[in-house]
Amino acid sequence: MSNSKIKSTHARRVWDSRGRPTVEVEVTLNYNACGRAIAPAGASTGTGEAVENRDGGEAFGGLGVENSIAAVNGEIARALKGRDASDQTAIDKVLIDLDGTADKSRLGGNAMIATSMAVAHACAAARKVPLWRSLHDQENAPEPPFLPLPEIQIFGGGAHAGGRVDIQDYMVTAVGAATFAQALDWTADVYRAAAGLMNEAGRSHGVADEGGVWPDFDDNEQPLDMLVRAIEAAGLRPGRDMAISLDIAASQFGVKGRYRLAREDRTLDSDGLSGMLVDWVERYPIVAIEDPMSEGDKEGMVRFTWAVGKRVQVIGDDFLVTSASRIRAAARDGACNAVLIKPNQAGTLSETRAALEAARKAGFGAIVSARSGETEDVTIVHLAVGWGVDQLKVGSITRGERTAKWNEGLRIADQLEGDLFGGRLPPRARFPWRASG
Ligand code: PGA
Ligand code: ZN
Repeated sequence: MSNSKIKSTHARRVWDSRGRPTVEVEVTLNYNACGRAIAPAGASTGTGEAVENRDGGEAFGGLGVENSIAAVNGEIARALKGRDASDQTAIDKVLIDLDGTADKSRLGGNAMIATSMAVAHACAAARKVPLWRSLHDQENAPEPPFLPLPEIQIFGGGAHAGGRVDIQDYMVTAVGAATFAQALDWTADVYRAAAGLMNEAGRSHGVADEGGVWPDFDDNEQPLDMLVRAIEAAGLRPGRDMAISLDIAASQFGVKGRYRLAREDRTLDSDGLSGMLVDWVERYPIVAIEDPMSEGDKEGMVRFTWAVGKRVQVIGDDFLVTSASRIRAAARDGACNAVLIKPNQAGTLSETRAALEAARKAGFGAIVSARSGETEDVTIVHLAVGWGVDQLKVGSITRGERTAKWNEGLRIADQLEGDLFGGRLPPRARFPWRASG
């Protein structure tokens, strides 16, 4: 009897970091190797993402997941029984065919990604290796494994902080750090400095959904000045040691090329927003900007990439939704030069891997990313290391669902015997500020 045949698949309801129900799946193989994974959930979702299966109705404000759980325990469990867990592509194809919809709305992207990831974990358990190594061993031409460069939130805004500022993520990335551990050390110093400065100024209102300071700013640029001050207060050099990275999440405030900056009581067109961001790139040590335009504003995205794509990462999240075909189209059009890789946007691990492959072929940078609704699940860290992805975005350096990921990275760094990017950072990521700084 093969030890990689699936014996059972079981789902249960667990809780995410916003106190909402979500799906956990456990896959058990013959000889009892077991893998478990939990589906995360976004708040600022792209319309092209795999659709979650939520119950609607009264319970949990309509966010119940009983239908997803029934789907896993019923038809998914039956379809996977006896299948070879080591053939992830075939497993995911069973899920995709069983669902039968283009957007995964029948079974639900949440049920499907939790199952798909649990299968990968079970497989690693059967091989008696960590998931990152199991994935790394399956790479065709494996490079030595390394840790990704963290991108970490300091201020949360947009849909994650009641719209207090219009822009969603003000982040830092330790472009000058020599190791993963050092990148976290430096970020913790910057976070502490930023929180202190914010408290002094009476502008802190606790923490936002992803653990960054929930800020009170008068406009969308003040957080950038505050970030630079915090980096300096931490004894680091802005741009050389620690750079700034932004997720504009423009789909949240832009419709049909009109961008409403409520905090500043003004509305910009696509060129106006682009001009504002280009100006920021000129004046602040910014190395990456995600979703600078709304998901429907392709022309705006192309123009923005043309304007600053040689100097900063222009990252597609809502715009690309971890879709290989969208990444190929964006590369053809000249929109974006990097992509956020979120497994639950794609809905299965194989499709997530295909998106990464498309990004590599296009010469795009890649950042594996968590969602704003998270749990203690650490699968994404293993994907980043196992697949050799340069960057990782998890939210802030506070709150357990975030530190679960960073701490898992530290454990993997120990397993790698010699922390991480070890001289090879950044292999494909482009950080011109660092190069010229
Ligand atoms: P989300 O936010 O999980 O709410 O989509 C994360 C992001 O936009 O990158
Ligand atoms: Zn985003």
